[in-house]
Amino acid sequence: MPHLLPKKHIHTQNITHYIILLLLIITIVTSSTPEDPIKCSSKNSNCTIKNSYGEFPDRSICHAMEVSYPKSEEELIAVVADATKMRRKMKVATRFSHSMPKLACPQDNGLLISTNYLNRTLIVDESSMTITVESGVTLRQLINDAAKVGLALPYAPYWWGLTIGGLMSTGAHGSSLWGLGSSVHDHVIQLRIVTPGDAKEGFAKVRTLGNGNPELEAAKVSLGVLGVISQVTFKLQPMFKRSITFLEKSDSDLGREAPKFGLEHEFGDITWYPGQQKALYRIDDRVPVSTPGNGLNDFSGFRSRPSLILALIRNTEEDQESRNDADGKCIDGKLTTSLLKSASYGYTNNGIVFINYPIIGYQNRLQASGSCLDSTKDGTCPWDYRVKGQFFHQTTVSIGLSKVMNFIEDVQKLVAIEPKALCVLDLYNGVLMRYVKASSAYLGNQEDAIDFDITYFRNKDPLVPRLYEDILEEIEQIGVFKYGGLPHWGKNRNVAFEGVIKKYKNASNFLRVKDAYDPMGLFSSEWTDQILGLRGGITIDKEGCALEGLCICSKDIHCAPIKGYFCREGKVYKDARVCTRIVKGEFA
Ligand SMILES: Cc1cc2nc3c(=O)[nH]c(=O)nc-3n(C[C@H](O)[C@H](O)[C@H](O)COP(=O)(O)OP(=O)(O)OC[C@H]3O[C@@H](n4cnc5c(N)ncnc54)[C@H](O)[C@@H]3O)c2cc1C
Ligand SMILES: *[C@@H]1O[C@H](CO)[C@@H](O)[C@H](O)[C@H]1NC(C)=O
Ligand SMILES: *[C@@H]1O[C@H](CO)[C@@H](O)[C@H](O)[C@H]1NC(C)=O
Ligand SMILES: *[C@@H]1O[C@H](CO)[C@@H](O)[C@H](O)[C@H]1NC(C)=O
Repeated sequence: MPHLLPKKHIHTQNITHYIILLLLIITIVTSSTPEDPIKCSSKNSNCTIKNSYGEFPDRSICHAMEVSYPKSEEELIAVVADATKMRRKMKVATRFSHSMPKLACPQDNGLLISTNYLNRTLIVDESSMTITVESGVTLRQLINDAAKVGLALPYAPYWWGLTIGGLMSTGAHGSSLWGLGSSVHDHVIQLRIVTPGDAKEGFAKVRTLGNGNPELEAAKVSLGVLGVISQVTFKLQPMFKRSITFLEKSDSDLGREAPKFGLEHEFGDITWYPGQQKALYRIDDRVPVSTPGNGLNDFSGFRSRPSLILALIRNTEEDQESRNDADGKCIDGKLTTSLLKSASYGYTNNGIVFINYPIIGYQNRLQASGSCLDSTKDGTCPWDYRVKGQFFHQTTVSIGLSKVMNFIEDVQKLVAIEPKALCVLDLYNGVLMRYVKASSAYLGNQEDAIDFDITYFRNKDPLVPRLYEDILEEIEQIGVFKYGGLPHWGKNRNVAFEGVIKKYKNASNFLRVKDAYDPMGLFSSEWTDQILGLRGGITIDKEGCALEGLCICSKDIHCAPIKGYFCREGKVYKDARVCTRIVKGEFA
């Protein structure tokens, strides 16, 4: 009864719009904290670990024989020594397990070492302006403990829930080209790491790596393969304030503006809505602490939401996907964007209301957020897999500043060919563009770059294609292959990591340190060996593999021919191979 569809469609959409509106106006206070990603069938043994989205890119289940929870460095050393003696495979796991790729999974049903209880701030030294924390401390704790004595971490990811060990190991960052840049690991001046040792050393060894030690350049971004980072010391700055204004413009000159904007504003970033041909510039600069204002960032996307609303939004999106309803997605996308704008993205001038821009406030109240972590009853983080909510892929690549203009223009050419295609990004708040500086870390950023963070619908069924599948696959391949972009180690689908290690000039130095620290590869797994170029198999050849980014299609069966999706060349980047929907009558 196809004639009934439009009616139902309008009905669902109206309800969703109404509810999204309510949602953004009311601040919801009830929710439940994210669950422990580790589940064991008996106490601390026979376990599985998930990421915070509930699925790895290949949807495999990760088993671990056991999990241990050291509460101090001494206990940590004992755990590593025991496992080394028995030649057991190990992996560090964190409180929330936020990385998308299968980084936290120990090989061969091995041992998980959780940093849950390594969560103390050890020293805050006002005179040297440094802080020393255990590696399981969350970003939020570090920010708060530094602020208590008037100190600030200048640059950080935007989300409170990451741990120091986890965010360093994956090269996480905020947005800046100033000073040492936005990567947290570039502000480390010392760390302690526990590695396997030989029998004489008691099977474990603590290494203290300070500034100037080349091994520190390996340990700053280590993918967890060198051992367990126990403690980290950061150089901080005296507390300062920032002044933030969001300015929306047409994206017609974005290619020329983007490379310059980050040099002009210390904390600037850009949210790009390519489907709406708009860009939101975050004009964000340091101002003296004497400047009046007590602004607060409680970013709308990291707030708790009632599960009922999450399900409604998801159901609408699934419904639109199943009916190829591009117009519906464009309408909902625009609505989402305008509601976020009218809610000032969750920023307030004083912690209570938004009055006007600029938002002026202390660094510790503006640099990151995540109120959905504090939760009690019904609501939860939007991606919580215990409820029906957001479920998405992320393609996150850093593209060198000199290539940014061409990348942006290629995406714009795709929009010109398929104007509705990138509406699918608007429900996930567009493309977040952040500045990242070249790093001395061996697996850190290789040149000054913009990191493009692209989030999009993922079907619960891995064999079902997405609306405008081809356009996003082409953008992924343009970013990763045509412009040689570096994938964020903690995000992305398998294809983004194809040949990745060749993009790092000092990869051989990293591998040398790895062999010295962990000669038996106890902290390595199939996945880390694959991304480090030590074994093949990053892409998986099977039916429908391109739909989930497990392969680049080379045959139709990698797409979904029965559903009308065939492997074709890209529309702008002819070397791309993407799953294109071919409507009957359009067969070439
Ligand atoms: C909502 C959300 C917002 C995000 N925002 C940003 C952002 O603004 N900027 C950004 O760059 N990224 C961001 N990310 C991605 C994030 O940076 C990475 O996924 C990050 O690595 C996750 O940290 P984690 O503490 O959850 O570590 P996990 O994902 O649990 O671990 C990551 C890796 O580090 C290893 N590891 C962890 N601790 C240690 C240790 N002590 N010693 C040795 N190895 C260790 C683990 O074994 C694993 O290999 C975001 C992710 C989410 C879910
Ligand atoms: C481990 O857990 C699985 C599923 O939870 C169960 O089937 C199996 O019997 C358990 N094995 C042991 C040794 O406890
Ligand atoms: C550390 O984590 C434990 C376990 O979750 C918790 O009980 C304790 O309060 C935390 N300590 C700090 C300083 O946050
Ligand atoms: C590689 O490391 C060496 C020191 O080990 C350093 O001098 C050099 O600058 C590094 N190269 C890059 C490209 O980072």
